[in-house]
Amino acid sequence: MEYLVVEGLSGEARLAGDISIEGAKNAVLPIMAGAVAVGGETTLTNVPMIADVHTMGALIEGLGGYVTTKDHQSSIRTKDANGTVLDPTLAKRLRASVLLTGAVMARSGRVTFPHPGGCVLGSRPIDLFTDGFQKLGALVSYQDEATTIEAQNGLLGGEIFFKVVSVTATETFMIAGTRATGVVTLKNCAMEPEVVALANYLRAQGARISGDGTPTIVIEPSHFEPNPDSFAILPDRIEAGSFIILGALLGKEVRVLNCVPEHLGALLEALRQMGVSVLATRDSVTVSRPDRLLPLELRTHEYPGFPTDLQAPMAVLLTQAEGESSLLETVFDGRLNYTQDLVRMGADIQVWNPHKATIKGPTPLKARDIDGPDIRAGLAFLLAASIANGTSKIGNAHLIDRGYERIEEKLESLGLVIKRETAG
Ligand code: EPU
Repeated sequence: MEYLVVEGLSGEARLAGDISIEGAKNAVLPIMAGAVAVGGETTLTNVPMIADVHTMGALIEGLGGYVTTKDHQSSIRTKDANGTVLDPTLAKRLRASVLLTGAVMARSGRVTFPHPGGCVLGSRPIDLFTDGFQKLGALVSYQDEATTIEAQNGLLGGEIFFKVVSVTATETFMIAGTRATGVVTLKNCAMEPEVVALANYLRAQGARISGDGTPTIVIEPSHFEPNPDSFAILPDRIEAGSFIILGALLGKEVRVLNCVPEHLGALLEALRQMGVSVLATRDSVTVSRPDRLLPLELRTHEYPGFPTDLQAPMAVLLTQAEGESSLLETVFDGRLNYTQDLVRMGADIQVWNPHKATIKGPTPLKARDIDGPDIRAGLAFLLAASIANGTSKIGNAHLIDRGYERIEEKLESLGLVIKRETAG
C-alpha cells in the first residue's frame, strides 16, 4: 500500500509555475480497443504513462496482440489478436475493459467477459451493452459470472437508441459497428471530445463514421486499411481541470500547459462565476487564487456540461467559497461518498441524497490520514491535503496513479512538499 504524504499550506496561495498535461486516459483506452478491431499495427503518441494504459495493454496481449508502451508512445500489433475471452482478473481492474467487447465482436463475432470493474461510483450496470448487441442480432448468455455475446454470422446493421447517455457504450458500438454487415445508427450518443478522438482514429484506418460530437452517429460498413502514420492522443481535460482547480485554490500563478481550453468550457465558466481570474490561450490556462471565492450552484452533466470527473476536486474548492454552494451529481448515483472524509477534515457538507449536497464555507481544513476511494476523489483528497493545516497521508495512491502520471513530481514542481511512502 502506497501513501502520498502532503504538507499542507494552511490555505496560503503559494503555488507557482508551469505544469504540463499528458494525453487523455479516456481517449487512449478506447483507441487501444479500436486498434484490436483494426487488426494491423498502430502507433500512438502522447500516451499517458499511467496504470490503466498498462492494464489495457495486458488485456490486448491476453487476446493475442502485442503491446509495448514507453516514453509516451504505444505500439500495438493486433494481427493475431483473435482471442474471444477477456482475462477476468485484468478486466475487473478497469471499467474501460468493456470497450474491448466492441472490438472482439467486430473481429470474431463472439466475446466472453466478466462484469467490468473500475471505480465504485454507484451501480455501473452493463445493460446498454447487452441490449445494444442484441439490437445488432447477437445472443447474450450468462454462466459463472461471465457474460457471452455471440453473433454467429457477424453483427447486423440496425439502430440503437441509448436510454442513458454513456461514453463507453457510444464508443463500444462505434467500434463494433465498423464491421457490421449493414449501417449502424446510434442515437442519444455521448458527445465527449474522447468520442470524437476515437472516430478520428477509426476514420484514419478507413472506417466510415459520421456524426461524432453530435447525438446521432452513423457507421457504414467498410474495410480497414491500417494507417502507418502515428496517431496523437489529445490532452487530458480532466487532468488539466484538476490542476486548474488547484491553481484556483492555492495558486500564486499556476500555468497549465498543453491543454485544450475549448474542452474545459463548463469548468472555466464555473470558475469565473466564483470570481477566479482565468486566462486561456489556445493551449494553456493561467489561474491564481482570488481574494474571495464566491459560492456556486454546480450541476454535473454529460459533455459539454460540467464533467462528473471534476465534481470531487471542485467540491474541495467550494469548501473555501464564502457562503452556501450546492452540488448536484446527475451522472452517477454513488459519487458523493467521499464528502464524509472532507467533513472529517473540517468541511461543512450536508448530503441530502445520493445526488445532492450543500457545502458551506469557507472552512479551514485540518490534516488527516484518509484513503482515496477512486481516481478522482483521491485527487480531490490531495487538493484538500494541500490546503490543510498540517501533514496528511493519502492512502490508495495506486488509484490516483490509474489516472495521473507522476502526480507527486508535478505537484512538487509547483512548490508543494509531497512524497510517496510505502507501508512496511
Ligand atoms: N449506464 C447504464 N448502463 C450501462 C452503462 C452506463 O445505465 O450499461 C449509466 C451509468 O450507470 C451512469 C451513466 O450511464 O449513470 C453514464 O455512465 P457512462 O457509461 O458514461 O460512464 P463510463 O462510460 O463507464 C466514462 C469515463 C468515466 C466518466 C464517465 C462519465 C472512460 C473510460 N470512463 O465512464 O471516467 O466518469 O464516462 O463521464 O471513458 C474516470 O476517468 O475517473 C472515470 C470514471
